Amino acid sequence: MEDGVRRWLVDISQWNPSQDQFSFLVSRLPPHEQAAVTRFIRFEDRKRALVSRLLQYTLVHEVLGIPFGKIILDRTIEGKPYLNLEWDFPFPNFNFNVSHHGDYVGIASESVCLVGLDIFSLVVPQQETALEFIKNFSSYFTVLEWKKIVNAGISDEILAEFCRYWCLKEAYVKATGAGLGFGLHRLEFHHTNWTNISVCIDGVESREWRFCLFELDKKHWASIAKGHPRKAVESYQRALTNVDIEDEKYWNRLCLPDPGFIPRAVEQLLPL
Ligand code: COA
Ligand code: MG
Repeated sequence: MEDGVRRWLVDISQWNPSQDQFSFLVSRLPPHEQAAVTRFIRFEDRKRALVSRLLQYTLVHEVLGIPFGKIILDRTIEGKPYLNLEWDFPFPNFNFNVSHHGDYVGIASESVCLVGLDIFSLVVPQQETALEFIKNFSSYFTVLEWKKIVNAGISDEILAEFCRYWCLKEAYVKATGAGLGFGLHRLEFHHTNWTNISVCIDGVESREWRFCLFELDKKHWASIAKGHPRKAVESYQRALTNVDIEDEKYWNRLCLPDPGFIPRAVEQLLPL
């Protein structure tokens, strides 16, 4: 693909490295990234953190041809990773976003639009019902969204509906780079059978965003948000070189159908 658009997904439940293999891969990362992996206690968390970084470096390498050792990924104050601008980009607004939850780690990239990705999975503690558990999070939803969730049907359908709304909201705040500090309750999603998804922000419908929802399996959902680079928070706008992209170019890219995820194995992400 010549357009810098990628969607990759790794199922980490299929990857069972030995301690030595794992340590080798960690050792190939820049020192600050190594610490970001080893700070986790649980091996599952370390796996997600490592694969997240392998995806980021491999994607930048494959799309832009930058040698692995020369890639510099910085983070905004809100934590969103971006490629350091020292390099001459073929794609002015090249940006990417990673998410990891449960069995999956994914990455999405765009070269014109802003992109946010969220992967979400929900496990209800044994002693609680689905409804009891999700009630703890009701303040993140609007009245209309909450009604749709609790009236979705049996327990599994309620959970599924919850996950769909949640990952759409997160994909938006991850695209802008604001993170959860933005206030998920400020977003209200509308849809027709989970296609034609649109968002109202602080009660006002925004036409400048496109959303896509994926059921990865019965337990995991993913969503992609695409929007205008000028909607990024200030810290992330500084990571892009053409925030005021021409309208026509932007709309052409925004309206393209989402290409969907390509599965990748960790073995295909080895540092070069
Ligand atoms: N915007 C977009 N992406 C972000 C981000 C942000 N503000 N912060 C981190 N990310 C990326 C990272 O790549 C991270 O993975 P990595 O650490 O392995 O590289 C990935 O998103 C994690 O996403 P996800 O798996 O979906 O995690 P999550 O659901 O637990 O939460 C955020 C993700 C971004 C919503 C949440 O961590 C958040 O709100 N962070 C902002 C915190 C903040 O504002 N701090 C201010 C300090 S001054
Ligand atoms: Mg998330």
